[in-house]
Amino acid sequence: MDTGQNPDESQQKTIPPSTASAYLDPQYWNERFSKEEHYEWLKDYSHFRHLILVHAHRNCSVLELGCGNSQLCEELYKDGINDITCIDLSAVAVEKMQKRLLSKGLKEIKVLEADMLELPFDNESFDAVIEKGTMDVLFVDSGDPWNPRPETVDKVMAMLKGVHRVLKSDGIFISITFGQPHFRRPLFDSPEFSWSVEWTTFGDGFHYFFYVLKKGKRLSYGNPYKGAYPIRSNVGIAQYLSIPRRISMK
Ligand SMILES: C[S@@+](CC[C@H](N)C(=O)[O-])C[C@H]1O[C@@H](n2cnc3c(N)ncnc32)[C@H](O)[C@@H]1O
Repeated sequence: MDTGQNPDESQQKTIPPSTASAYLDPQYWNERFSKEEHYEWLKDYSHFRHLILVHAHRNCSVLELGCGNSQLCEELYKDGINDITCIDLSAVAVEKMQKRLLSKGLKEIKVLEADMLELPFDNESFDAVIEKGTMDVLFVDSGDPWNPRPETVDKVMAMLKGVHRVLKSDGIFISITFGQPHFRRPLFDSPEFSWSVEWTTFGDGFHYFFYVLKKGKRLSYGNPYKGAYPIRSNVGIAQYLSIPRRISMK
């Protein structure tokens, strides 16, 4: 899954793991981050800034999941979003990010070592949760993407339940990912979530997906697909009522 954007080609080459499932191992990330200063998974902020700023406002409290050594939080900060908390499972990523932000005078941005599957925050703490390429990690050993292993589904659902829980009642979850709607929708649309699901794409040639999940705005409460930018959505009420899902949920 190593499709990313290394802005500094002079930098040491990134370390590919020996197997895809190594992406699930914090040790892999610790080793990688001990040698790598900056790497953007998928694309950098300039490619999706226009999409984020439709939803994120100056006074937003934002939680970023799996910040790695990305500059996303700095870029958000430059755009006036100052209440930012980043988490990462990798202690090395967290320590280096803390140092980097401090050296740039961005001490307001909080960086914590934490597992996105067990978010250590109170209910309804954030206006927005953002992840870029982090949820994708959970799918690296999923097997058949149409019918992922139960272990994968359990992890993804633990993550999504945590995100839903820590979002304020009108909060939004932004997921920037390789994952195509036919693979992500069955998970995002799980009945326990009150959010609506919208998406668009960005990128030239290869398209990345930009999902916006709005808590409390599920379809049955009206039409949530009136985006401020062209949104593609083919989900009708019928999907909720009768079309069988390909992924079985607990
Ligand atoms: C594919 S990288 C994405 C990094 C960054 N978001 C970006 O866009 O460049 C995945 C990141 O998620 C972190 N990660 C993996 N599993 C995690 C988990 N369960 N909880 C929190 N962070 C996790 C990794 O340490 C790594 O920094």
